[in-house]
Amino acid sequence: MPRTITLSDGKKIPAIGWGNGTGGLGKSGQKAVDTGVLALKAGILHIDTAQSYYTEKETAEAIKASGLKREDVFVTTKISVTSNTKTTQEDIKRSVGESLGLLGFIPDLLLIHSPFVPEDGKIGEFWTHLEDLVEDGTLAGCSLGVSNFRPQDIEEVMKVAKIKPVVNQLEYHPYVITHLEPLLEAHEKYGIVIESYGGLSPVLRHPTGGPLKPVLSKIASKLSTESGTTVDETQVLLLWQVCRGIVAVTSSTKAENLAKIAATEKLRDLTEDELAEIEDVGKTVHFRAYKVHMTKDFPEPDLPTGE
Ligand SMILES: NC(=O)c1ccc[n+]([C@@H]2O[C@H](COP(=O)([O-])OP(=O)(O)OC[C@H]3O[C@@H](n4cnc5c(N)ncnc54)[C@H](OP(=O)(O)O)[C@@H]3O)[C@@H](O)[C@H]2O)c1
Repeated sequence: MPRTITLSDGKKIPAIGWGNGTGGLGKSGQKAVDTGVLALKAGILHIDTAQSYYTEKETAEAIKASGLKREDVFVTTKISVTSNTKTTQEDIKRSVGESLGLLGFIPDLLLIHSPFVPEDGKIGEFWTHLEDLVEDGTLAGCSLGVSNFRPQDIEEVMKVAKIKPVVNQLEYHPYVITHLEPLLEAHEKYGIVIESYGGLSPVLRHPTGGPLKPVLSKIASKLSTESGTTVDETQVLLLWQVCRGIVAVTSSTKAENLAKIAATEKLRDLTEDELAEIEDVGKTVHFRAYKVHMTKDFPEPDLPTGE
């Protein structure tokens, strides 16, 4: 059974998801469909799409082409493109309607893609309009969440929320923990689950891997011996997230790496000592791959980058 994480509204979300917003899949048409089929056939039953990736239609096509039923796959989309940039109920209804039209179904989870999607000062109003769409049945059964929200944005939502955001999707890995501590407190307070993207950044995007690399390497080698399979550092990072109750949204366009992502599900949990070692080392460095959104009016810590 794939690992799942229970959200505050009781819905279960597969702990590992495959996103079609990176790896050149956005706007790629058939490539996004074909790679989606590969991911689903590898056993990753959770697709992360967004209006701004232009892959919502392809998400639905991949599910159909895989032979799976719609209800076998957890689908998330993110709202960002409104027909004009206003935040009226009509604008949001039209924008959500565009996503529903492309998907051909109601997603399991819908996120506001960034706190800068709503007009300035209108986050609360935007959230209320989304709640209305859940209540009037347009988004029946859909959970609501946010993405790239800073602590102050979470507070804006919580001032008005009748339906709580179930997740905040953001770049998350051990090298951003220190920066995000105030945000993690807000998540804890409101029962918001982290959905990570860019989670493999310490290994794939940091210029050297920093001090975490030997720690991940050591754990990967131990898991390889124990499982009799080849486990790499990216899998240890995914496993660390899942064991901490974080939904790991990753991606790949390659069958070999998709198989590794799926195989991560079958590995044993990391021990408390292994989890703590990853965090203790991670907190000594500050490295962020995606700067946009999360650094504005949310100062980054003065820590070494670990290069
Ligand atoms: N909400 C937001 O603002 C936001 C922002 C960014 C991303 N996202 C979402 O999150 C998804 C993932 O984002 P991300 O690409 O930053 O995630 P990531 O997990 O940090 O990186 C994914 C990359 O890792 C590579 N990879 C996977 N397994 C590997 C392995 N075993 N060894 C070496 N490389 C491996 C893949 O390349 P190969 O194709 O070469 O395997 C892929 O390009 C996106 O597609 C999107 O859905 C959301």
